[in-house]
Amino acid sequence: MTELTVNGIVHRFDGDPQTPLLWYLRDELALLGTRFGCGAALCGCCTVHLDGAAARSCSVTVGDIDGRSVTTIEGLGGNGLHPLQTAWIKLDVPQCGYCQSGQIMQAAALLATNAAPSDSDIDDAMSGNICRCGTYPRIRAAIKAAASGSHAELAPRHAAELAGTAKLVP
Ligand code: FES
Ligand code: FES
Repeated sequence: MTELTVNGIVHRFDGDPQTPLLWYLRDELALLGTRFGCGAALCGCCTVHLDGAAARSCSVTVGDIDGRSVTTIEGLGGNGLHPLQTAWIKLDVPQCGYCQSGQIMQAAALLATNAAPSDSDIDDAMSGNICRCGTYPRIRAAIKAAASGSHAELAPRHAAELAGTAKLVP
């Protein structure tokens, strides 16, 4: 039996402890915001937080994380939007959207340890998160907006969008 906390809720899993965390999140808990890309810790699509640090959920087994705490994109903002999610909306960061939950989770882990990252800090932290659509300039701008607090100054065209959006799950 493995016990882990996901987005603040304690879960007990009596299946195969070698089950990848990504499968557990998607197939057992129906948390579909975390995406499968490469399955080999190479793309960053599946990034979640393990005790607050970014981790590739495709390459961690449930058995590896007994007793630990997982946060997914669905739980990132608590009962609202994380500043990064607001910035992502404001700056229209996603294109196809597939990589974006992993990008946001990676960026959130960065801001948790570095509240004012430089361009170089951002590039270093985000270098393992691949975006086939090339949204990197907007990702960097959104991280800087969230870090500076300017994400709060929303353009009017986004107000209705935010009012009806409980969570950003790209
Ligand atoms: S799916 Fe996990 S890093 Fe690519
Ligand atoms: S937005 Fe399409 S892969 Fe990143």
